[in-house]
Amino acid sequence: MSHIFAHRGSSGTYPENTMLAFKKAEKTGCYGLEFDVHMTKDLEVVVIHDETVNRTTNGRGAVKDMTLEELKKLSIKSGWLRKEKIPSLDDVLEWAQGNEMIINIELKNDKVFYKGLEELVVQKVAKYQLEGRIIYSTFNHESVKILKKITTCEVAALYSRKGINPVLLAQSLNADAIHANYRVMTPQLMRDCQRHGIPVRLYTLNRPPLIQKWMNEGLSGVITDYPDLAQKFKDKKE
Ligand code: G3P
Ligand code: MG
Repeated sequence: MSHIFAHRGSSGTYPENTMLAFKKAEKTGCYGLEFDVHMTKDLEVVVIHDETVNRTTNGRGAVKDMTLEELKKLSIKSGWLRKEKIPSLDDVLEWAQGNEMIINIELKNDKVFYKGLEELVVQKVAKYQLEGRIIYSTFNHESVKILKKITTCEVAALYSRKGINPVLLAQSLNADAIHANYRVMTPQLMRDCQRHGIPVRLYTLNRPPLIQKWMNEGLSGVITDYPDLAQKFKDKKE
């Protein structure tokens, strides 16, 4: 069975990585949520995709150079009347206590090296007692190794380059799962993963024929900007 994960929330319809997008995703009844985290100047954790606030907010600058208080003053750019704020990881985890979604936290420490981000995120998850519902993922494969040492939660290795063998990657990192760009996955590679008991989740599957194709191949997780759409496929198949 393929589980549906809302990529940055219901980000095809609402501003990505906002509480609005997360709440709308929950309403679709999807299985899980994927979002991205970075570390602030004052060692807090915020939910945002890029290393800077330039693309998604009315501010400018790098997340690592700003405090949580400074980041909270910014508004998310969107066509919506009510301006959303950058959520902290605390905001999201506190809200998640009230639902049952699986939470895929992607640590965005592949371009900026945030020292201690792994420990900080794991501590926050423990504070809200959400360990049973967390999947960590990251493109930084050193970070996968660190996470495997400090948590018993599922840890997935992310990759998007062609030519990588996902079975060897997962085995070399002791990773529990593979999260890959669908463009670099093949049915054969996915079957290899299945044979080795390695769950594969693919991003970002937005087009119905793609969702259908990979669901038919027995994909573990569909990471999509349109969880509402993907849910309909799931219902049809079951
Ligand atoms: O975690 C899957 C996916 O979100 C990775 O790519 O750039 O959308 O964070 P990106
Ligand atoms: Mg992501």
